[in-house]
Amino acid sequence: MSKPELYIHSSYEALCHGVAKEIASLAHRAEQRYRPFNVAFSGGSTPENIYQLLASTHFCEEINWGGFNIYFGDERMVAPDHQDSNYLMVKNTLLDHCPIPSANIHAIKGELQNPHTAAAEYQKELIEHLDQSESLIPIFDLVLLGIGSDGHTASLFPDTDILVQHEKWVDAVYVKKLDSWRVSITLPIINNAKNIIIIASGKPKADIIKEVFSKAHPNKKIYPIQLLQPSGLVTWHIDQAASEGIED
Ligand code: 6PG
Repeated sequence: MSKPELYIHSSYEALCHGVAKEIASLAHRAEQRYRPFNVAFSGGSTPENIYQLLASTHFCEEINWGGFNIYFGDERMVAPDHQDSNYLMVKNTLLDHCPIPSANIHAIKGELQNPHTAAAEYQKELIEHLDQSESLIPIFDLVLLGIGSDGHTASLFPDTDILVQHEKWVDAVYVKKLDSWRVSITLPIINNAKNIIIIASGKPKADIIKEVFSKAHPNKKIYPIQLLQPSGLVTWHIDQAASEGIED
């Protein structure tokens, strides 16, 4: 496993610009190899300005949207026009503002009644469209992940069964503290990605970032984000405010 790279940006705006640049560069690299670029986007609020930047003139004109395929790392079990929908957030910030073919947008069906059906259908979609490793796990070029103050990422929340799901690449998870169902990619498929970018911004993330980057000690709590054992490259992009707790 390669050692994670950590970039600390002076501001949220600088973080978003740095990550947008990295995404555009990875997409360009795939295009140079005449390969599709398959990315799983994160939900939540942190990536919103990244997606808006990708839709801005500079990046929008640079990216070959015909080869750019957008997937979702997780989704809330709501309709695609619901305010909590990750798909709606990506639609509002990016999809409505760039010429990406609709066939290149792969949403999780949050509108279905049964989250297990939504998870099974999404897993089929990933198997159908993505290359697979020797162990038949679909391979993303990039998985973009946020992190919650409790150390969750995607919808891999502490004390949930999905954390020990190693047979499925997508699963449904009931998040007790949110009293809601979600569908999320699982650790095996995240670990199998060629590139992982993890983003964190603002003082509310300083404690969890301090925990994650502090030296291990015997009874140190392990957070879901620390269960990642990626085979590819992991890059953390955080801003100054989120980095305050990191010991030198
Ligand atoms: C989601 C995300 C989730 C998010 C974190 C951080 O669906 O909400 O997948 O994992 O990345 O909760 O969210 P913020 O970026 O809003 O802090």
